[in-house]
Amino acid sequence: MTLFAALRLPREILFGKGQRHALPAVAGRFGRRALVCTDARLAQTPEFAALIEGLKAASIEVLVHDRVQPDVPRDSVAQCADEVRSFKPDMVIGMGGGSCLDMAKCVSLLLTHGGALSDYYGEFKVPGPVLPIIAVPTTAGTGSEVTPVAVVSDPERTLKIGASSPYLIPAVAICDPELTRTCPPGLTAIAGADAMTHAIEAFTAARKTPSHELAQENVFIGKSALSDHFALYAIRLLGRSLEKAVSNGTDEDARADVMMGALAAGCAFGTAGTAAAHAVQYPAGALTDTAHGMGVAAMLPYVMSYNRQTSASALAEVGEALGLPVTGSIEDRAGAAIAEVSRLFAAIGITPTLAGLGLAADQIEWTCEQAVGIQRLIKNNPRPIDLAGMRQLVQAAYDGDLAAAAR
Ligand SMILES: NC(=O)c1ccc[n+]([C@@H]2O[C@H](COP(=O)([O-])OP(=O)(O)OC[C@H]3O[C@@H](n4cnc5c(N)ncnc54)[C@H](O)[C@@H]3O)[C@@H](O)[C@H]2O)c1
Ligand SMILES: [Fe+2]
Repeated sequence: MTLFAALRLPREILFGKGQRHALPAVAGRFGRRALVCTDARLAQTPEFAALIEGLKAASIEVLVHDRVQPDVPRDSVAQCADEVRSFKPDMVIGMGGGSCLDMAKCVSLLLTHGGALSDYYGEFKVPGPVLPIIAVPTTAGTGSEVTPVAVVSDPERTLKIGASSPYLIPAVAICDPELTRTCPPGLTAIAGADAMTHAIEAFTAARKTPSHELAQENVFIGKSALSDHFALYAIRLLGRSLEKAVSNGTDEDARADVMMGALAAGCAFGTAGTAAAHAVQYPAGALTDTAHGMGVAAMLPYVMSYNRQTSASALAEVGEALGLPVTGSIEDRAGAAIAEVSRLFAAIGITPTLAGLGLAADQIEWTCEQAVGIQRLIKNNPRPIDLAGMRQLVQAAYDGDLAAAAR
């Protein structure tokens, strides 16, 4: 095997308890005028007020947009950009869950390059650098603080859609696990399961033939040496602490592990990409109105099972990172890893089937057709998936039949 890697990351990542207090110093390096994108919940908290006071005390003029909605409706981005244009910010700070971070990316994009958000859907459509983005996550899950993608919902499309470009990677990510303390168990579980899915899909992604064009022609390039490193670290941390963080939200060490797991998973999938579990969630989530993390996690064990014949040794390594014993054949260890992910997800309340999420039997075919059409994700799956393969996978996930997915 030729050693090959590519990695695209923020220029600064700060992680740790209390790191949010570095925000004024970090922001001060980008200018004196900051737009802050957040949601109504965070805007009303004392922590948020303290962060804004800190910025002002450092002579940074602040404009707060506190109306970010979940899943970032397309028109809310244009509205925000129009409202704040005359403020002429030097930087955009996204503070909140993945939706607030994605909003900050989109607003920064529109303020810099104009036009409509739809001009930038797809890969490499952003023509140049955008206003510096500082990402301060308050959930531990999406990894958006380090990734090149912003996901939005567009009323003219049934499926959510994204803009992917290295220019959308935040300049700085500030990850303070204390900000996740208020996440209720359900949100902790769903966001953490999204992170686990990012890590496992990035680690088991197809390995492409290395070439100098690969990372220039694709935002997401499949498995490579450095993303593997981040993915395994993420699996280890989430494996040992996600259940604890869900059952006891005051466990600071578990909260820190899960936030680091989400960050590391973002570092992995931001270059490697994700695969079939994410592809199925786009249509299945649209039909059932399922939260992103819940939908991808419901699919993950079936996708691992489907990929068993091409990726047994990678799955065995996943098992080792999850703390399983390194004994028995590769095949057995791959099976044990799938069983452990199913067990963990059941323990934190992830719905185990597509039927359980509310998908109707007569929606399976449409789900399959849409999912195989999302080529940027499908091409990343280690075992090729055509429409017949997708029918096998989705039917298995609908029925709750792991063995049927593996055929
Ligand atoms: N850009 C990426 O790389 C990427 C990756 C995965 C998912 N996403 C997107 O991210 C979005 C999901 O993000 P999310 O799961 O972080 O949730 P979210 O940002 O949509 O927020 C969900 C809810 O949680 C609340 N919340 C956030 N932080 C909290 C806290 N500390 N305490 C209490 N409540 C809190 C919010 O106020 C909101 O009501 C989806 O739109 C998804 O498509 C983006
Ligand atoms: Fe995700």
